[in-house]
Amino acid sequence: MNGTHAADRARQLREEINRHNLLYYVLDRPEISDADYDLLMRELRELEEQFPELVMPDSPTHRVGAPPAEGFAEVQHPLPMLSLSNAFNMVCELKIDGLAVALTYRDGVLVHGATRGDGYRGEDVTRNLRTIRSIPLSVPPEAPPLFEVRGEVYFPRSQFDRLNEERAAQGQPTYANPRNTAAGSLRQLDSRITAQRPLEIYVYGLGYAEGGDVPDNHWDTLEMLASLGFRVNVHNAVCRTVEEVEAYYRQWLESIGELDYAADGVVVKVDRLSYQDALGFVGREPRWATAYKFPATRVVTRLLNIGINVGRTGSLNPYAELEPVDVNGAMVKLATLHNEDDIRRKDIRIGDWVVVERAGEVIPQVVGPVTERRTGEEREFAMPERCPECKVQVVRTEGEAATRCPNAACPAQLFELLKHFVSRGAMDVEGMGEMLCRSLLDAGLVRDVADVYGISRDDLLQLERMADKSADNIMDAIERSKQRPLERVLFALGILHVGSEMAETLVSHYGNLWRLSRATEAELVVIPGVGPKIAESVASYFRDEANRQILRKLHRAKVRLVDDSPQEPVERPL
Ligand code: IVH
Repeated sequence: MNGTHAADRARQLREEINRHNLLYYVLDRPEISDADYDLLMRELRELEEQFPELVMPDSPTHRVGAPPAEGFAEVQHPLPMLSLSNAFNMVCELKIDGLAVALTYRDGVLVHGATRGDGYRGEDVTRNLRTIRSIPLSVPPEAPPLFEVRGEVYFPRSQFDRLNEERAAQGQPTYANPRNTAAGSLRQLDSRITAQRPLEIYVYGLGYAEGGDVPDNHWDTLEMLASLGFRVNVHNAVCRTVEEVEAYYRQWLESIGELDYAADGVVVKVDRLSYQDALGFVGREPRWATAYKFPATRVVTRLLNIGINVGRTGSLNPYAELEPVDVNGAMVKLATLHNEDDIRRKDIRIGDWVVVERAGEVIPQVVGPVTERRTGEEREFAMPERCPECKVQVVRTEGEAATRCPNAACPAQLFELLKHFVSRGAMDVEGMGEMLCRSLLDAGLVRDVADVYGISRDDLLQLERMADKSADNIMDAIERSKQRPLERVLFALGILHVGSEMAETLVSHYGNLWRLSRATEAELVVIPGVGPKIAESVASYFRDEANRQILRKLHRAKVRLVDDSPQEPVERPL
């Protein structure tokens, strides 16, 4: 054997042995027998004896490879103590706040695209993914015959702001954040809608590959993906030390707001794929990668006023109107305030300078006042005595945080209730958004939720900006919604404390909304999972003649109220 050949072989052996050391010593998952391991070691030792220049500082032959002696307590290393020279690279990437997808290419063609779902099973959104321009529909012949690429689909921030400005200008409701908007866009049943949304992708890894040559490290994999035409983030970086990783994180913590996409942290990955394999997973979490989230951003601004929203169960929900302030590149003018007790506990007063916190893309929260900046002009907040919408006197039940408007006919409540009734998780009347709910109420076409089934095509055509085609679509959607399973119907009614899980519990117990409507509190309260609050709420809902009337109207419209016929599958998974 000549010198070069020997050097190659020695390197191979070192890597092999180090990998088996890792598997055996750190992960307790040996892949080869002790005898085979000894063979590898012997070969390396012999090579090193013959060519002493090949003895490297990290050669496993330096070690006395004895397994831990019996009788010692075993120590779990918080971080695996990997290699002798600490010489493993890491790849740092931005953690894009979008929607994870997996793209499968067979014989050079995109054949499948799926969302992450629960990690094991996702939704097939191939047609929608094909509309995203930065996803190649085919790849050059040097690509492996079968492989899966993973990445994050996102909605660019600038486009998101523009979309919202346009919608606001047209009097349409605005979207909450780019992440949900991306998810919503990708999960459209009609891919022509997805095609109109400016979605983008960054790919961040190879799921699997069969056949073909693939690199043995993550960095080169990313380069290969880029050369195959995938969009790879240019801000990815290789780091050789922990200090470099820290520097990368700190740099992006400062400047993340300058990018045109939301990123909520940094992902650090072990570069070498054989180490990745050896490290494996704990449940769904890889041991070879970890995400360092950016902390929530806090800013200080003026609390101009406290507004009140009336929820679907009549709760009066206070919210903060803020002097607009830039948080990581986004203008914030509204924030959550929870409830009256919370405002009092934090001593938040109108006119205060307040600390506002925004984590990721969620709705910002008011953390508390900056009391040092008080001038004495600030006003304490008090819940109104009367509902801001219908002027009926509000009630506050002992032991409950919320103040409520008790008027079931309150227009604000009805608006929220109607939106809930037709929403995705409930009756799922596609195409009936906030705007249409508002118009139907304003036109007096809907006075309770069951009136949805009394709407005619002509009624719809009376409404402003309603085209023939849309009216047909909505009529179809209303018709289809009659097939929803019973638990969805019950959930859709919007009974206080009856969420989708409670609806399932009650339906599995009664199988019939008529029977449920006659149940007494005493009967209800013995059902596992049903407490006195829920029992009271359900019984009093059905005691109300107006609600019984709703049930009768739904029945006449042939909405399912009895669990007898075989159930249709849900059209859109939630
Ligand atoms: S690698 C922890 N790389 O973040 C390693 N994931 O918390 C996870 N994500 O749902 C997979 N950007 O969709 C990886 N550059 C990136 C990422 C990234 C965003 C998402 C991913 C997953 C979540 C993991």
